[in-house]
Amino acid sequence: MSTILISGGTVVTASGTLDADVLVAGEKIAAVLARDVTGAGEAGDTPAAVAADRVIDATGKYVLPGGIDVHTHMEMPFGGTFSADTFETGTRAAAWGGTTTIVDFAVQAKGSSLLATLDKWHGKAGGNCVIDYGFHMIVSDVNDMTLKEMDACIAAGVNSFKMFMAYPGVFYATDGEILLAMQQAARSGATVMMHAENGIAIDQLVAQALAAGHTDPVYHGLTRPPELEGEATSRAITLAKVADCPLYIVHLSASQALAAVAQARDTGQNVFAETCPQYLFLSLEDLARPDFEGAKFVASPPLRTKDHQDSLWRGLRTNDLSVVSTDHCPFCFKDQKELGRGDFSKIPNGIPGVEHRMDLLYQGVVAGQLSLPRWVEVASTTPARMFGLYPRKGVIAAGSDADIVIYDPQATQTLSAASHHMNVDYSAYEGMQITGRVVTTLSRGSVVIDDGEYLGRAGHGTFLARGLNQYLL
Ligand code: URP
Ligand code: ZN
Ligand code: ZN
Repeated sequence: MSTILISGGTVVTASGTLDADVLVAGEKIAAVLARDVTGAGEAGDTPAAVAADRVIDATGKYVLPGGIDVHTHMEMPFGGTFSADTFETGTRAAAWGGTTTIVDFAVQAKGSSLLATLDKWHGKAGGNCVIDYGFHMIVSDVNDMTLKEMDACIAAGVNSFKMFMAYPGVFYATDGEILLAMQQAARSGATVMMHAENGIAIDQLVAQALAAGHTDPVYHGLTRPPELEGEATSRAITLAKVADCPLYIVHLSASQALAAVAQARDTGQNVFAETCPQYLFLSLEDLARPDFEGAKFVASPPLRTKDHQDSLWRGLRTNDLSVVSTDHCPFCFKDQKELGRGDFSKIPNGIPGVEHRMDLLYQGVVAGQLSLPRWVEVASTTPARMFGLYPRKGVIAAGSDADIVIYDPQATQTLSAASHHMNVDYSAYEGMQITGRVVTTLSRGSVVIDDGEYLGRAGHGTFLARGLNQYLL
């Protein structure tokens, strides 16, 4: 079994920092060896005495558990096209950015079964992923068969079910259908994940805007007001309470929605929420960029006015937002986003970001918005616990998978489509100068990114059958 010693770094976990060396044996972390930084210890007691096949010098660097992005869409069918990253290109880009696990969404088409959908997504991802992966299931057709199949999905390691209060005619579910699925999920302790926007009202606003000749991308944002995210979030929380079902609000963008989540959490209800870097760093002003450039920023819920960003950062600190995922759903500007020239409602919804989540969140540490341990917690440890992967993932501890990132906190970089590794022809963060950079990424003990060189392999990533949410009250 080959061994790697990561020496000289500062180990950062959700509970704090430690000057320690990390010994990897095969696919697992074998030991975390605290260093005697006082110099008072006996020679030979120090980790330097540990023999390893390879020593990686992490002096001056942070050593983190690999990032876990629990909301990605590789090869997702949407709006008559497919998101541009395959499981191979998307997981490779993730590794470049220090993410070592993704949880992607299998998408039930209306009329198809959940188990056939799961098989199809195993076919897409199997043998193609560079890092480990799991699935959530998108339930778009609630019927007796679907409800029965939810249990089979849980047995197959897929125990989180995304439903939509948006996109009537596509993924939308009625309140009654949502209640039935929540009752079914609740019987096994599974989680319902909710896209909470009032799609019925939004469709009326979209029709009114188009009838008035308002076709530019910014109208995507103006027809999806934050109040309709707040309303849907409250309704989802109420339905979950009636069904006694754990609820996880995905891609939360608006302070109204955050207030509803915070209120429910204060009552002790099993309600959790994530936000995404685009809602922390981008705004409605980007959607309003001229010459159809705003199309690059079309996603649902839409980017909000900047005042929402302060609430989201605060929510991350108070734990009313417990996870940051990307909702990575890349569509090229050319040929894909362009499908919506002259009609914003035809622009495929989604923003690329799987590569930049750890870096962008680290800007929160640089700016004093988040502590170092909280950075690791929202990007790795909590996602692992929320989606039943802990302690295999999400922590640097003996016995855990050796998913490890060595991070240079002093490096600087400029984000750009010219240098990113996602299979998409633009960057939502083009030209943004940031501090910090991934130097090395290990996935289950294999070095995938080695000081700026890609050493990974499609097929190294394995499917993760997940357990239940570990935060349930
Ligand atoms: O615009 C988005 N978010 N696209 C991906 C699908 C979804 O709703 O998460
Ligand atoms: Zn969604
Ligand atoms: Zn999504």
